[in-house]
Amino acid sequence: MRKTSEEKKHFPSSKRNAQRISSKDFWADRWQNQNTPWDLAGPHPHLQMVVDLAKKLGGLSKGAKFSIPGCGRAHDGAQLAKDGYLVIAEDVVERAIAEAKSQYQKLPGLTLRTGDFFNCPKEDLEAFDAIFDRAMMCACPKTEHAAFVDQCAKRLKKGGLFLTLAFQELNLDAGKEGPPYTISEEELRTLLSRNFEVLYTELRNDGATGVVVKMELLCVARKT
Ligand SMILES: C[S@@+](CC[C@H](N)C(=O)[O-])C[C@H]1O[C@@H](n2cnc3c(N)ncnc32)[C@H](O)[C@@H]1O
Repeated sequence: MRKTSEEKKHFPSSKRNAQRISSKDFWADRWQNQNTPWDLAGPHPHLQMVVDLAKKLGGLSKGAKFSIPGCGRAHDGAQLAKDGYLVIAEDVVERAIAEAKSQYQKLPGLTLRTGDFFNCPKEDLEAFDAIFDRAMMCACPKTEHAAFVDQCAKRLKKGGLFLTLAFQELNLDAGKEGPPYTISEEELRTLLSRNFEVLYTELRNDGATGVVVKMELLCVARKT
């Protein structure tokens, strides 16, 4: 999918394949060192809210099939499975999936698997009713956000729903670069405009997920 001029303005070209921050090595190292400060030890406090919005505004159905990219220890996937959804949660790092399995392997409705979200296996093409993203898109630099959204579009059925809890603003120490990275509402809308209709956005600064996240960006969009 080619970039529009709006996208080129917000998301300059990357040497994506030269060094991807979302590469396995970078994240494997974080997991190896147990450097996982994003982990909330349970589902995200706004998960229920975005799911309710997806039901109300996007007709998310009972038992819908969810993809969760960059699932980490898969607390959100586990909650969705407990709520009756069919969930495939994946992470590029084997250790992340091993840790998720140590807690949730036996949970009905939850499949935990290793995989690079930037490679879409054939069986995942247009196979999902919904995608829930928390901190996978914003784990990637801006130069990879368009590719991430395109991967989501590939996996969703027509009318499928994209749910994200993204970071519009962060409190990073001076001079510190991400991850995590930000995405503004305008940037997200620009990326979604190719394949999605935005149903809902909201900015929240209620500190629900710790001091690093200054302003969270909630969004629900429907694949057109
Ligand atoms: C910031 S963490 C968020 C984890 C989880 N969503 C959470 O909220 O606890 C980002 C996760 O994405 C995974 N990841 C990074 N690049 C990936 C890729 N290309 N495909 C799948 N997972 C990836 C990392 O290993 C890491 O576990």
